[in-house]
Amino acid sequence: MRWVVVETPEALAERAAERVLADLEARPTLVLGLPTGRTPLGVYRRLVEACRDRSCFARAQTFNLDEYVGLAPSHAASYCQYMQRNLFDHVDLPEEGRHLPDGTAAAVRRLHPEVGRERALRLECVRYEAALAAAGGLGLTLLGLGHNGHIAFNEPGSPFDSRTRLVELADSTREANADEFGSPEAVPRRGITLGIGTLLESRSILLLAQGEGKAEAVARLASEQVDEDFPASALLRHPDVTVIVDRAAGAATTTPP
Ligand code: GLP
Repeated sequence: MRWVVVETPEALAERAAERVLADLEARPTLVLGLPTGRTPLGVYRRLVEACRDRSCFARAQTFNLDEYVGLAPSHAASYCQYMQRNLFDHVDLPEEGRHLPDGTAAAVRRLHPEVGRERALRLECVRYEAALAAAGGLGLTLLGLGHNGHIAFNEPGSPFDSRTRLVELADSTREANADEFGSPEAVPRRGITLGIGTLLESRSILLLAQGEGKAEAVARLASEQVDEDFPASALLRHPDVTVIVDRAAGAATTTPP
C-alpha cells in the first residue's frame, strides 16, 4: 500500500485525476470502477475539464461500485443520476460503456416478469457481476472511505471474498448520506454493491479520503490491522493500492505511513 499525503482536497483531486488520465492514455479500453459521494466530485470535475477538447473515454468502460435498492435510475438521488450530472453528461464515454447496478432490477423484471422483487434484485446482482466479468474485470478502481471503514457499500462484517450482492446499510452510512434525501430515515435501507472480493480483483486501486471526518478511519487503515470489522483493511492484501489523503484526513495518523 502506497501512501500519498497532499495538503488540500484540490490537490487530492488533481493527483487522482492525473492517475486516471494517465491510465486511460496508456490503455484506452480501461475498465474503471467508480465511486460516488462527496470525495470524488473534484476528481470528476477535473476529468470533465481535461476531456473538454479531447477524447478520453471513447473506448473506456465504467462500472459504478454501488446503488440504492428501490431507486429507479431516473430518481434524482440515485447514483445513476449522480454519475450523469457529475461525469457522464460531460465526457465522451459512450452510453454502452456506462454500467451501474439497477436498484429496481427493471431489466431483469422485464425479462422474467414471473419472478418476485427480491429474486429479481438478486438476479440483478448476478447480472452486474457477469457484465463486469465480460468486460474483463476492473482495471483501475477509485474508492472512497466510509467513516466506519466501508468501501462501496461493504459495511463492517462484509466477508473479504464477497461478490456483488444486496446489503443492509449501516445507520452511520444512512446518516452520512442523508443530504440528498432530506433525512436519514428517508435514505434507502439497502444497497447493491460490488463485493470486497470483486473489488480486490481490480488490477489497481486508488483509495481517496479527505477531511477531518475521515481521520479516524484513515488512522485505523494505517495501523495495518486486517479485520473484517473494518472493510478497507481488506485492501492491505492487495498488491497495488495507492491511498491519497489530504492533510486533514491524515491528521490522526500518528505513525506517518
Ligand atoms: C457512500 C458510498 C461510497 C462512498 C462513501 C464515502 O456511502 N456508497 O461509495 O465512497 O460512502 O462517501 P463520501 O465521499 O461522501 O464521504
